[in-house]
Amino acid sequence: MTKPTFYVTTPIYYPSDKLHIGHTYCTVAADTIARYKRLTGYDVMFLTGTDEHGQKIEEKAKEAGVTPQQFVDRIVTGEGGILDLWKLMNISNDRFIRTTDDYHVAAIQRIFKKMYDNGDIYKGAYKGKYCTPCESFWTESQLVDGKCPDCGRPVHDAEEEAYFFRLSKYAEPVQKLLESGTFLEPASRVNEMINNFIKPGLEDLCVSRTSFSWGVPVDFDPGHVVYVWVDALFNYATALGYMNDRYHDFDKYWPPHNIVGKEIVRFHSIIWPAMLMSVGEPVPAKVYGHGWLIIDGGKMSKSKGNVVDPYLLAGKFGVDALRFFLLRTFPFGTDGNFTNELLINTINADLANSLGNLVSRTTAMIEKYFGGTLPPEREADPLDDELLGMIASTAGRYEKQMDAFQLHLGLEEVFRLIGRANKYIDETMPWVLAKDEARAPRLATVLYNLLEALRVSLILLTPFIPDSCEKAFAQIGAEGDCRSWEKAAVYGALPADVKVTKGDTLFPRIDAAKMLEELEAMNKPAPTADPVLPDVSIDDFARCDMRVVKILSCEAVKKSQKLLKFSCDDGSGTPRQILSGIHAFYEPEQLVGKKVAAILNLPPRKMMGLDSNGMLLSAVRTVDGKEDLHLMIVGDDVPVGSRLC
Ligand code: MSP
Repeated sequence: MTKPTFYVTTPIYYPSDKLHIGHTYCTVAADTIARYKRLTGYDVMFLTGTDEHGQKIEEKAKEAGVTPQQFVDRIVTGEGGILDLWKLMNISNDRFIRTTDDYHVAAIQRIFKKMYDNGDIYKGAYKGKYCTPCESFWTESQLVDGKCPDCGRPVHDAEEEAYFFRLSKYAEPVQKLLESGTFLEPASRVNEMINNFIKPGLEDLCVSRTSFSWGVPVDFDPGHVVYVWVDALFNYATALGYMNDRYHDFDKYWPPHNIVGKEIVRFHSIIWPAMLMSVGEPVPAKVYGHGWLIIDGGKMSKSKGNVVDPYLLAGKFGVDALRFFLLRTFPFGTDGNFTNELLINTINADLANSLGNLVSRTTAMIEKYFGGTLPPEREADPLDDELLGMIASTAGRYEKQMDAFQLHLGLEEVFRLIGRANKYIDETMPWVLAKDEARAPRLATVLYNLLEALRVSLILLTPFIPDSCEKAFAQIGAEGDCRSWEKAAVYGALPADVKVTKGDTLFPRIDAAKMLEELEAMNKPAPTADPVLPDVSIDDFARCDMRVVKILSCEAVKKSQKLLKFSCDDGSGTPRQILSGIHAFYEPEQLVGKKVAAILNLPPRKMMGLDSNGMLLSAVRTVDGKEDLHLMIVGDDVPVGSRLC
């Protein structure tokens, strides 16, 4: 029998910086959904990837002195990059798309042309506020005090030729779709979309630009590149082979379940279905807008210095503990406030205490009382009924929550069963039963029931914490079919003579005070070095005439706060005058007589009316926005005129 298919996606992330815990949250959630669907018998396609084009990447690459492709390659495929992060987090994606992949670029050109040919894309003029020095368009709301947000200079009204997508044409069918039930979830987001965006009137959307070049070229109109959303949204289709020959499973897996953060729900629930309607393809099966992880009630951001690093947390707490925390603590549809305390408390309470203890107590008792294998004689008791009832019924309730992407509620069902099993230990008091040999059959039943509660719990936890479940299954002796979804609601799947082996502690208890101190110390931002510049040839390097010179005299330049005037012995016999803006770091008397490194063949330059014939070399870095400078002073034994090579 062929399996039903299920296609799930994450947003494609911008590789403009390292990803943080918020991105990890989204990908772990989608991964858990994918694993759950595989567990329950679906043929799953799980896609994630990176959104690599656009002005921001182009600018960041320029700042770093590399090409945009080199820039994104480093963040996506470089060591400690996005691919490494997903590997570390045990993400089971079947495919990874990069919007710079050739097949995607070619497909986007075809899609753009198709929409142009059917009249849904037309040429018009993009109007905005333009900053000439930055060569950038801004919207009114992006301006800061009416000025360019990047350089602070005045902007002016300007127009640029651009292509537009006829979004307005699709207002009615999109509204119908939004109102139709389960297309967009959580349901609270539906009214937000209709009231805030559709009712005020949908405007056509600008889908090309000429002011930057890092994008998919519009092949029938050179100078234009496809702007953002056509390129980004259609990744979900091109990754299955839509309009390209790289893959061939569009018909098999379409339509997708698009898991996205709340800030891009608008693009996914309005623009995305409209574009699909335009090209005549089915709209997504679901768009699910999850909430954000926030810190101290606000957004995580580089400038605030509160970005939480998933590598650090996974290293400290373990991948499964981190995965679990993210999905157990925060209802998927709403924002959640991230704190280290919450993380530690959740791991201790649920994983170390409830689950970890149940595994270790159960396996330890079976080893201690029966040498690892239960005897065949059993004795039931009405006291067992509630636990057995929950063993048979938890999977059904869990399934309902998981199918609605209510992952935290799915986990709640599992932990209700685990909690009940722990209580059952207190009620049945196996250590008392163990004292009386005649009660061995009763003791065996109690321990078997605990194993069964564990087996079912582990099946249901597998999508969340796959590696730990694997280890725990091995400890309770659950092999093969009795780990399957079909056996998740069946009591008695473990063989009566199952062999149990107590193993290592699955989730060691964390000393909260000590750990918080450690995290605090690690969070102190370390100054980061600027990225390495692109390669230069050895010949270019050799053309730089850098030598050791001796400072013969030094004085401050009048009327200048920064400049010092040096007379240097460069070994030629004629003193050389060099000016250097380092007065903030050195007083003249500190430097006279010192030997320093200088480059001598820079073209002469006038500063404050004085000639400078070269430049003293310094080691410079920026710490907390302030420049820190150290002149390259060399040892007294280095002869004047020696070349640096
Ligand atoms: N490239 C676009 C998406 C295009 S999809 C066709 C983009 N990329 S992004 O890197 O800025 O963010 C993508 C997603 O990361 C968000 O939608 C969200 O799922 C996730 N998150 C980013 N910050 C987050 C939090 N602080 N908390 C939870 N998720 C967050 O937008």
